[in-house]
Amino acid sequence: MSTRFRLAKGDQVVVLTGAGVSAESGVATFRGTGGLWEGHSLEQVATPQGFAADPQLVWRFYSARRKARRTVEPNPGHRALVALEQAVGEDRFCLITQNVDGLHTAAGSRHVLEMHGALRRTRCSAANCPLEPFEEDLLHEDEVPMCPRCGSPLRPDIVWFGESVLHDAAIHKALLKCRLFIAAGTSGTVYPANQLGSRAKARGAATILVNLEPIDPPGVDPDSEFDEFHQGRSGEILPGLVDQLISNLGPKES
Ligand code: OAD
Repeated sequence: MSTRFRLAKGDQVVVLTGAGVSAESGVATFRGTGGLWEGHSLEQVATPQGFAADPQLVWRFYSARRKARRTVEPNPGHRALVALEQAVGEDRFCLITQNVDGLHTAAGSRHVLEMHGALRRTRCSAANCPLEPFEEDLLHEDEVPMCPRCGSPLRPDIVWFGESVLHDAAIHKALLKCRLFIAAGTSGTVYPANQLGSRAKARGAATILVNLEPIDPPGVDPDSEFDEFHQGRSGEILPGLVDQLISNLGPKES
Protein backbone atom coordinates (compact mmCIF):
# COMPACT_ATOMS: atom_id res chain seq x y z
CA MET A 1 0.00 0.00 0.00
CA SER A 2 1.32 3.40 -0.83
CA THR A 3 0.94 6.54 1.22
CA ARG A 4 -1.06 9.51 0.03
CA PHE A 5 1.10 11.88 2.04
CA ARG A 6 3.95 13.96 0.64
CA LEU A 7 6.69 15.67 2.57
CA ALA A 8 8.07 19.07 1.65
CA LYS A 9 11.65 20.04 2.46
CA GLY A 10 11.78 21.56 5.93
CA ASP A 11 8.79 19.59 7.25
CA GLN A 12 9.18 18.31 10.79
CA VAL A 13 8.77 14.53 11.06
CA VAL A 14 8.14 12.68 14.32
CA VAL A 15 8.24 8.90 14.59
CA LEU A 16 7.09 6.89 17.59
CA THR A 17 8.23 3.29 17.85
CA GLY A 18 7.33 0.42 20.14
CA ALA A 19 8.36 -3.15 20.75
CA GLY A 20 7.02 -4.34 17.37
CA VAL A 21 9.84 -2.53 15.56
CA SER A 22 12.40 -4.68 17.37
CA ALA A 23 10.39 -7.91 17.00
CA GLU A 24 12.09 -8.84 13.71
CA SER A 25 15.46 -8.44 15.42
CA GLY A 26 14.37 -11.15 17.86
CA VAL A 27 13.46 -8.94 20.83
CA ALA A 28 10.26 -10.15 22.52
CA THR A 29 7.31 -7.74 22.55
CA PHE A 30 5.44 -7.17 25.81
CA ARG A 31 1.94 -8.29 25.02
CA GLY A 32 0.62 -11.30 23.13
CA THR A 33 1.81 -14.88 22.85
CA GLY A 34 5.40 -15.27 23.94
CA GLY A 35 5.29 -11.71 25.27
CA LEU A 36 7.75 -10.55 27.89
CA TRP A 37 5.14 -10.25 30.59
CA GLU A 38 4.25 -13.93 30.25
CA GLY A 39 5.40 -15.73 33.38
CA HIS A 40 5.88 -12.46 35.28
CA SER A 41 3.39 -10.13 36.72
CA LEU A 42 3.85 -6.63 35.54
CA GLU A 43 3.61 -5.44 39.15
CA GLN A 44 6.57 -7.66 40.08
CA VAL A 45 9.04 -6.52 37.44
CA ALA A 46 7.85 -3.14 36.19
CA THR A 47 6.86 -1.09 39.21
CA PRO A 48 8.88 0.62 41.96
CA GLN A 49 6.83 -1.38 44.48
CA GLY A 50 7.84 -4.65 42.81
CA PHE A 51 11.49 -3.59 43.00
CA ALA A 52 11.19 -2.67 46.69
CA ALA A 53 9.59 -6.05 47.42
CA ASP A 54 12.10 -8.20 45.50
CA PRO A 55 14.99 -6.35 43.83
CA GLN A 56 16.77 -9.59 43.00
CA LEU A 57 13.85 -10.88 40.95
CA VAL A 58 13.72 -7.58 39.07
CA TRP A 59 17.49 -7.66 38.39
CA ARG A 60 17.20 -11.27 37.19
CA PHE A 61 14.49 -10.19 34.73
CA TYR A 62 16.47 -7.24 33.35
CA SER A 63 19.74 -9.21 33.35
CA ALA A 64 18.06 -11.75 31.06
CA ARG A 65 17.02 -8.88 28.80
CA ARG A 66 20.55 -7.43 28.80
CA LYS A 67 21.91 -10.84 27.89
CA ALA A 68 19.39 -11.26 25.06
CA ARG A 69 20.22 -7.77 23.77
CA ARG A 70 23.86 -8.75 23.23
CA THR A 71 22.91 -11.12 20.43
CA VAL A 72 20.47 -8.97 18.43
CA GLU A 73 21.03 -6.52 15.59
CA PRO A 74 18.97 -3.72 14.04
CA ASN A 75 16.61 -4.80 11.25
CA PRO A 76 15.44 -3.10 8.01
CA GLY A 77 12.76 -1.16 9.95
CA HIS A 78 15.41 0.51 12.12
CA ARG A 79 17.55 1.22 9.07
CA ALA A 80 14.65 2.75 7.13
CA LEU A 81 14.21 5.28 9.93
CA VAL A 82 17.90 6.18 9.71
CA ALA A 83 17.41 6.88 6.00
CA LEU A 84 14.37 9.04 6.74
CA GLU A 85 16.32 11.10 9.27
CA GLN A 86 19.16 11.59 6.82
CA ALA A 87 16.74 12.70 4.08
CA VAL A 88 14.78 15.25 6.12
CA GLY A 89 17.72 16.36 8.28
CA GLU A 90 18.50 15.66 11.92
CA ASP A 91 17.09 19.00 13.08
CA ARG A 92 13.74 18.26 11.39
CA PHE A 93 13.42 14.71 12.63
CA CYS A 94 12.68 13.24 16.02
CA LEU A 95 12.49 9.54 16.80
CA ILE A 96 10.64 8.91 20.04
CA THR A 97 10.94 5.32 21.17
CA GLN A 98 9.35 3.31 23.93
CA ASN A 99 12.02 0.69 23.39
CA VAL A 100 14.87 0.35 25.85
CA ASP A 101 17.07 -1.86 23.65
CA GLY A 102 19.12 0.91 22.02
CA LEU A 103 18.68 -0.60 18.55
CA HIS A 104 17.76 2.71 16.88
CA THR A 105 21.04 4.27 17.98
CA ALA A 106 22.90 1.10 17.03
CA ALA A 107 21.39 1.37 13.54
CA GLY A 108 22.62 4.97 13.20
CA SER A 109 19.64 7.14 14.17
CA ARG A 110 20.86 10.31 15.86
CA HIS A 111 17.93 12.31 17.20
CA VAL A 112 16.45 9.60 19.43
CA LEU A 113 14.44 10.17 22.62
CA GLU A 114 14.23 7.00 24.71
CA MET A 115 11.13 7.89 26.70
CA HIS A 116 11.08 4.65 28.73
CA GLY A 117 14.78 4.66 29.61
CA ALA A 118 17.55 2.34 28.49
CA LEU A 119 18.50 -1.22 29.32
CA ARG A 120 22.18 -0.29 29.03
CA ARG A 121 21.93 2.18 31.93
CA THR A 122 21.78 1.72 35.71
CA ARG A 123 20.82 4.29 38.30
CA CYS A 124 20.31 4.67 42.03
CA SER A 125 16.85 3.81 43.35
CA ALA A 126 16.95 6.64 45.93
CA ALA A 127 15.11 9.71 44.65
CA ASN A 128 17.51 12.31 46.08
CA CYS A 129 20.84 10.53 45.44
CA PRO A 130 23.35 12.62 43.40
CA LEU A 131 24.64 9.58 41.47
CA GLU A 132 24.05 10.11 37.75
CA PRO A 133 22.63 7.23 35.70
CA PHE A 134 25.57 5.40 34.14
CA GLU A 135 26.13 2.98 31.28
CA GLU A 136 26.79 -0.66 32.15
CA ASP A 137 26.08 -4.00 30.57
CA LEU A 138 26.71 -6.20 33.61
CA LEU A 139 24.32 -8.94 34.60
CA HIS A 140 23.15 -8.90 38.21
CA GLU A 141 21.59 -12.32 38.43
CA ASP A 142 22.75 -13.27 41.92
CA GLU A 143 23.39 -9.97 43.69
CA VAL A 144 21.68 -6.62 43.94
CA PRO A 145 24.28 -3.92 43.20
CA MET A 146 24.49 -1.10 45.72
CA CYS A 147 24.96 2.62 45.14
CA PRO A 148 28.56 3.77 45.78
CA ARG A 149 27.25 7.19 46.86
CA CYS A 150 24.39 6.43 49.24
CA GLY A 151 24.26 2.65 49.72
CA SER A 152 20.73 2.22 48.33
CA PRO A 153 20.07 -0.56 45.82
CA LEU A 154 20.91 0.33 42.22
CA ARG A 155 18.18 -0.31 39.65
CA PRO A 156 17.86 -0.49 35.87
CA ASP A 157 17.31 2.97 34.34
CA ILE A 158 13.91 1.93 33.00
CA VAL A 159 10.69 3.88 33.46
CA TRP A 160 8.26 1.69 35.38
CA PHE A 161 4.50 1.98 35.71
CA GLY A 162 3.56 4.94 37.86
CA GLU A 163 6.79 6.82 36.99
CA SER A 164 7.22 9.83 34.71
CA VAL A 165 8.55 9.28 31.21
CA LEU A 166 11.87 10.82 30.21
CA HIS A 167 12.34 13.72 27.76
CA ASP A 168 8.85 15.11 28.26
CA ALA A 169 9.87 18.67 27.30
CA ALA A 170 11.76 17.57 24.18
CA ILE A 171 8.81 15.41 23.09
CA HIS A 172 6.47 18.35 23.52
CA LYS A 173 8.77 20.56 21.47
CA ALA A 174 9.06 18.00 18.66
CA LEU A 175 5.28 17.74 18.37
CA LEU A 176 4.75 21.50 18.14
CA LYS A 177 5.77 21.77 14.50
CA CYS A 178 5.14 18.18 13.45
CA ARG A 179 3.83 17.79 9.87
CA LEU A 180 4.03 14.03 9.63
CA PHE A 181 3.70 11.60 12.54
CA ILE A 182 4.40 7.89 12.08
CA ALA A 183 3.74 5.34 14.84
CA ALA A 184 5.22 1.89 14.29
CA GLY A 185 5.06 -1.38 16.20
CA THR A 186 3.15 -0.23 19.23
CA SER A 187 -0.06 -1.54 20.77
CA GLY A 188 -1.04 1.93 21.91
CA THR A 189 -1.86 0.69 25.38
CA VAL A 190 0.60 2.68 27.45
CA TYR A 191 0.14 6.29 28.48
CA PRO A 192 1.46 8.86 27.60
CA ALA A 193 3.01 7.35 24.42
CA ASN A 194 -0.47 6.45 23.22
CA GLN A 195 -1.47 10.13 23.26
CA LEU A 196 1.28 11.38 20.96
CA GLY A 197 -0.59 10.59 17.73
CA SER A 198 -3.64 12.58 18.74
CA ARG A 199 -1.44 15.41 20.01
CA ALA A 200 0.34 15.56 16.64
CA LYS A 201 -2.97 15.41 14.78
CA ALA A 202 -4.38 18.21 16.90
CA ARG A 203 -1.48 20.35 15.69
CA GLY A 204 -2.30 19.58 12.07
CA ALA A 205 0.05 16.68 11.36
CA ALA A 206 -0.78 13.84 9.01
CA THR A 207 -0.68 10.60 11.01
CA ILE A 208 0.31 7.12 9.84
CA LEU A 209 0.24 3.85 11.76
CA VAL A 210 2.40 0.87 10.80
CA ASN A 211 1.55 -2.20 12.87
CA LEU A 212 1.14 -5.94 12.59
CA GLU A 213 -2.31 -5.82 14.12
CA PRO A 214 -4.97 -3.17 13.77
CA ILE A 215 -5.20 -0.87 16.77
CA ASP A 216 -8.24 1.34 16.31
CA PRO A 217 -7.38 1.84 12.62
CA PRO A 218 -9.23 4.24 10.38
CA GLY A 219 -12.28 2.55 8.97
CA VAL A 220 -12.68 0.43 12.08
CA ASP A 221 -12.61 3.21 14.63
CA PRO A 222 -14.02 6.47 13.24
CA ASP A 223 -12.34 8.33 16.11
CA SER A 224 -8.88 6.99 15.28
CA GLU A 225 -6.08 9.51 15.47
CA PHE A 226 -4.48 7.83 12.44
CA ASP A 227 -5.22 8.99 8.90
CA GLU A 228 -3.61 5.97 7.31
CA PHE A 229 -2.95 2.41 8.46
CA HIS A 230 -0.32 0.14 6.91
CA GLN A 231 -0.77 -3.35 8.26
CA GLY A 232 2.23 -5.67 8.37
CA ARG A 233 5.73 -6.08 9.77
CA SER A 234 7.59 -2.84 10.23
CA GLY A 235 10.77 -4.36 8.75
CA GLU A 236 8.82 -4.95 5.56
CA ILE A 237 6.58 -1.87 5.48
CA LEU A 238 8.88 0.92 6.69
CA PRO A 239 11.56 0.59 3.96
CA GLY A 240 8.92 1.02 1.19
CA LEU A 241 7.08 3.79 3.00
CA VAL A 242 10.31 5.70 3.64
CA ASP A 243 11.48 5.22 0.04
CA GLN A 244 8.23 6.70 -1.18
CA LEU A 245 8.40 9.66 1.21
CA ILE A 246 11.99 10.37 0.20
CA SER A 247 11.49 10.06 -3.53
CA ASN A 248 8.45 12.36 -3.39
CA LEU A 249 10.14 14.94 -1.15
CA GLY A 250 8.88 18.21 -2.54
CA PRO A 251 10.39 21.69 -2.56
CA LYS A 252 10.20 23.81 0.58
CA GLU A 253 6.74 25.28 1.09
CA SER A 254 6.66 29.05 1.16
P1 OAD B 1 3.47 -4.08 22.91
O1 OAD B 1 4.09 -5.42 23.13
O2 OAD B 1 2.36 -3.66 23.79
O3 OAD B 1 2.90 -3.98 21.41
C1 OAD B 1 3.68 -4.33 20.31
C2 OAD B 1 2.84 -4.10 19.06
O4 OAD B 1 3.69 -4.38 17.95
C3 OAD B 1 1.61 -5.02 18.93
O5 OAD B 1 0.49 -4.21 18.58
C4 OAD B 1 1.98 -5.96 17.78
O6 OAD B 1 0.87 -6.26 16.94
C5 OAD B 1 2.98 -5.14 17.00
N1 OAD B 1 4.00 -5.94 16.28
C6 OAD B 1 4.53 -7.12 16.61
N2 OAD B 1 5.46 -7.48 15.72
C7 OAD B 1 5.52 -6.49 14.79
C8 OAD B 1 6.28 -6.25 13.63
N3 OAD B 1 7.22 -7.12 13.20
N4 OAD B 1 6.07 -5.12 12.94
C9 OAD B 1 5.14 -4.22 13.34
N5 OAD B 1 4.37 -4.39 14.43
C10 OAD B 1 4.57 -5.50 15.16
O7 OAD B 1 4.67 -3.02 22.91
P2 OAD B 1 4.65 -1.44 23.14
O8 OAD B 1 3.46 -0.82 22.51
O9 OAD B 1 5.98 -0.95 22.77
O10 OAD B 1 7.06 0.02 28.84
O11 OAD B 1 4.49 -1.38 24.70
C11 OAD B 1 4.54 -0.13 25.32
C12 OAD B 1 5.22 -0.23 26.65
O12 OAD B 1 4.60 -1.26 27.42
C13 OAD B 1 6.67 -0.66 26.61
O13 OAD B 1 7.55 0.37 26.29
C14 OAD B 1 6.89 -1.13 28.01
C15 OAD B 1 5.59 -1.81 28.32
O14 OAD B 1 5.12 -1.55 29.57
C16 OAD B 1 8.02 -0.01 29.77
O15 OAD B 1 8.75 -0.95 29.97
C17 OAD B 1 8.07 1.23 30.57
